[in-house]
Amino acid sequence: METTPATGVRVAPQDLTAFCIAAMRASGVCEDDARLTAEVLVTTDMLGTFTHGTRQLRGLLKNVRTGRIDPTATAEVAGEGPAWAMIDARNAMPPAVAYRAMELAMRKAKASGIGFVGVRHASHFGAAGFYANMALKDDMIGLAMCNVDPCMIAPGARGKVLGTNPIAYAAPAGEEPPVSLDIATSAVAATKIFAAKALGKRIPENWLVDEHGMPTTDPSQYPEKGAQLPMAGHKGYGLAVLVEVLAGVLTGASLLSQIKSWVADTLEPTDEGYAFIAIDVAAMMPVAEFKGRMDGMIREIKVAPKVQGVDRIYLPGEMEWERRHAALVDGIALPPDVVASLRGLASDIGLDPLDSVDHDLLSPDP
Ligand SMILES: NC(=O)c1ccc[n+]([C@@H]2O[C@H](COP(=O)([O-])OP(=O)(O)OC[C@H]3O[C@@H](n4cnc5c(N)ncnc54)[C@H](O)[C@@H]3O)[C@@H](O)[C@H]2O)c1
Repeated sequence: METTPATGVRVAPQDLTAFCIAAMRASGVCEDDARLTAEVLVTTDMLGTFTHGTRQLRGLLKNVRTGRIDPTATAEVAGEGPAWAMIDARNAMPPAVAYRAMELAMRKAKASGIGFVGVRHASHFGAAGFYANMALKDDMIGLAMCNVDPCMIAPGARGKVLGTNPIAYAAPAGEEPPVSLDIATSAVAATKIFAAKALGKRIPENWLVDEHGMPTTDPSQYPEKGAQLPMAGHKGYGLAVLVEVLAGVLTGASLLSQIKSWVADTLEPTDEGYAFIAIDVAAMMPVAEFKGRMDGMIREIKVAPKVQGVDRIYLPGEMEWERRHAALVDGIALPPDVVASLRGLASDIGLDPLDSVDHDLLSPDP
């Protein structure tokens, strides 16, 4: 397979899933972990969050090759009560660890009304939104978050203090789509800065500061110099600290500068922490009543008077659900950087993507 610059392609979700599973199996990941990881990454692409979908698989499998992720390890429950559990991930395949941890939080919530599951000794789980969204199928409210290595300032600090600590929530609705927010607590996810850097583009003033702590529109400063800015100033900073408390302090995972970047050239484990919360609506209110109230809330927001030139108000997650629907009908339109990453992955492990992906479906995106 050539590794020349790629164009975008449109691919059926099941074919992309097959390719991802084949790549993981060829790298020593067991069938179950490969299946769960592929579901996380392909679904994330279907939602249009391409920065954290299958594009991440090449880096995850590089970590498998270097031994930072152990594809033969199984996470274990290190402590638990009726409504909570703490998991030692033992550096097992991160999306599969996170998937099972959220399932456990949901089982706890089914029994106790609410479930909290923390995870330590973990690595990069991708998009937080996937795990929060898992709660929806059981009519639960889901929250998911993780702490990551520092790349963001604290207000007043000149350099990196906190990670971009992503946080996501999802709540079911009735006739309306579920409401779900999935964000980094920095102004943007770092991948967007790297994308601008690769294209030689300037970035908005509120994304980065330079080595002197001054705002810059030059993405080439990062990550060697400068640091990311929190979203909405002290508010994003405050939320990032909450994530550090729940996913890091409470779980026993590494904190702040102790965490190793999952993309760093080191053999040391990442040791991120995760936190998952599930709230069982049925334990607190009839589900139909909750969903009716959600629909009412959503509709009141959507009919708010709009500014000139705007014809639609979106709820958090609405754009992603529409993209997922389109991907189910027409396939996923993978952007060029994702295609390049998948081709690079195929080349890394000597796997031809066309062995597992139907050739007719891997066509240039018009
Ligand atoms: N694992 C990690 O280390 C890590 C770290 C940081 C970020 N991430 C992931 O990066 C991804 C991208 O993060 P981001 O901060 O760049 O996201 P973003 O700024 O693109 O925001 C996306 C969210 O905002 C909502 N949204 C966007 N426009 C909207 C509008 N007009 N009205 C209503 N809602 C709207 C979307 O529905 C979505 O929930 C997330 O999946 C996050 O979990 C992961």
